[in-house]
Amino acid sequence: MNIDFIGVPLFYGCDRKGVEKGPDKLREKSAIEVIRNHMEVYDLGNIYAPDACDEDKFICHSKMKYLQEIADINTNLAHQVYLSLHAGNFPLVIGGDHALGLGSISGVSKHFDNIAVVWIDAHGDINTPETSPSGNVHGMPLSAAMGVGYSTLRNLYFEGRKVKPENVHIIGVRDLDEGEVMLAKEENINLYTMEEIKEKGLSAVLDKMIRKIKGSHVDAVHMSFDLDAMDGELVPGTGLPIPDGFTEDQVKDIFKSLLDTGLVSSMDLVELNPVLDKGDTTADLSIELIDYVVKTMKEKQ
Ligand code: ARG
Ligand code: MN
Ligand code: MN
Ligand code: MN
Repeated sequence: MNIDFIGVPLFYGCDRKGVEKGPDKLREKSAIEVIRNHMEVYDLGNIYAPDACDEDKFICHSKMKYLQEIADINTNLAHQVYLSLHAGNFPLVIGGDHALGLGSISGVSKHFDNIAVVWIDAHGDINTPETSPSGNVHGMPLSAAMGVGYSTLRNLYFEGRKVKPENVHIIGVRDLDEGEVMLAKEENINLYTMEEIKEKGLSAVLDKMIRKIKGSHVDAVHMSFDLDAMDGELVPGTGLPIPDGFTEDQVKDIFKSLLDTGLVSSMDLVELNPVLDKGDTTADLSIELIDYVVKTMKEKQ
């Protein structure tokens, strides 16, 4: 198996520039060479992102910014992820903002029948245009992947839902909007909050999650990692740093327990904003985490 490195220079989902520079920043920081130390890697370049003009952001929908651009970029991403899996490779999708999660999941879901998604994030990203406080689509990809929300997103790449809500696992969450709390309850999404992790310990919570994933008989697990899952102080180079998040070791523990299942087919790393970063702290941390994931995958082979 080879790694396919796929860049997504997308900022339309968070409406804050800088995050589109994430993939090139990591290339500059030798991400490809770091991966190649452990496994074969192909850099598939960046998905094309058209220029959009600021005044036109609500042109397609009054409550979702840059809807058409995001849908187009995500459709191309979905196809690239699908082709990568079809070729027997491991798509490693580098953002860009988390709106791209919808494209990744769509590609994974076209290839596999029944998938689980593990969303490692301070946020739930399960808003809809009605519940979103911001109109930013990076707060909506996971609900759309479950078939909830606006039709353009729900039916991206192929019609209908990409993952069953009971196969969605959100871990590290500590900043949910009101509508997200309601949807999580209604749809029976698995939430592993930071509060629960503090109370029971990470390894107990991971055991519970892994047991549930294994019991669900899915064909593949897509791992979507938002850097803001980590403690805000560790990730100055992300748009919405939130206190009381994971340490670096905890994130590695999460990756390891998931990779040990042998089910992980694909991964996103998102919300790196090199313009906000302090002396490349967050970029360097991202490289370290990519190195860890690929090294751990190699050991499993
Ligand atoms: N819940 C907020 C919103 O919907 C923040 C979402 C943050 N998402 C992210 N991928 N960083 O606007
Ligand atoms: Mn997110
Ligand atoms: Mn499917
Ligand atoms: Mn987040």
